[in-house]
Amino acid sequence: DGVTVTALRDLAVRLATAAGALVREGRPDRVVVAATKSSEVDPVTVMDRASEELLREMIAAERPDDAILGEEGDDVAGTSGLTWVLDPIDGTVNYLYGVASWAVSVAVVAGPPEPASWTVLAGCVHSVADGRTWSAGLGEGATRDGVPVRVGAAASLGTSLVGTGFGYDAARRAHQAQVLTQVLPKIRDIRRLGSAAIDLCLLADGSIDLYYERGLNPWDMAAGAVVATEAGAVVTGLRGGPAGNAMTVAGPPELVAQLSEILEAADADGARSPEIG
Ligand code: IPD
Repeated sequence: DGVTVTALRDLAVRLATAAGALVREGRPDRVVVAATKSSEVDPVTVMDRASEELLREMIAAERPDDAILGEEGDDVAGTSGLTWVLDPIDGTVNYLYGVASWAVSVAVVAGPPEPASWTVLAGCVHSVADGRTWSAGLGEGATRDGVPVRVGAAASLGTSLVGTGFGYDAARRAHQAQVLTQVLPKIRDIRRLGSAAIDLCLLADGSIDLYYERGLNPWDMAAGAVVATEAGAVVTGLRGGPAGNAMTVAGPPELVAQLSEILEAADADGARSPEIG
């Protein structure tokens, strides 16, 4: 329908900011830490749903022909060839505990609604607690609060600060801990900040040097990935495969190649241990 990447990016920013305000206002003063996303009625689930509902309403009003893929709720089919990919709260554990690193992540992609075959056209990650907003449009660069950002220029793997994250499944976690024993001695340090979307944006603006994670969902990474690539990062899987659930590695090309070698040797994407899932 002739919509521009710039217009899509602007809408992604408006959506993420509006949902962020809702979720910030709705966070109870004393969140019951015992409640987790595994319960259907916990405060996080309630706010996750409210946030996604608002996003869906705004998209339906402004872009009624677009499809929607969200962490909460059913997929909506569209006719325009564009799909909005929504994470209403990325970093839910931080949100639950009142740790600042959580975000609303909104991306819009072109092509079939399977991550391997789509192209992310625009995305916004709004870190609600501190108000920082990263956004990018394909071919238009990435910004944080309107100021262009670039990936850092870490000299070597040994001096790199590396972000990562862990899944919620115990067997998967044990495997991830093993991988970490191979990575940690070879880098400056690890950060596990708790929101994959923010991790990718911190990589994009040079706050961390590299990022890797197994087990990401499309909504965790779609917006962060376009921010990172538009800031000069490669975002990829292992052995030349695409970034995705099996593995996402992001950073400047030379460092990604070095880290990928270690991750491949450690079977970080589980290619040699399918029983772990
Ligand atoms: C999670 C966060 C976390 C990452 C997990 C994700 P959620 O998303 O991004 O940093 O390590 O893999 O599932 O559950 O908070 O939306």
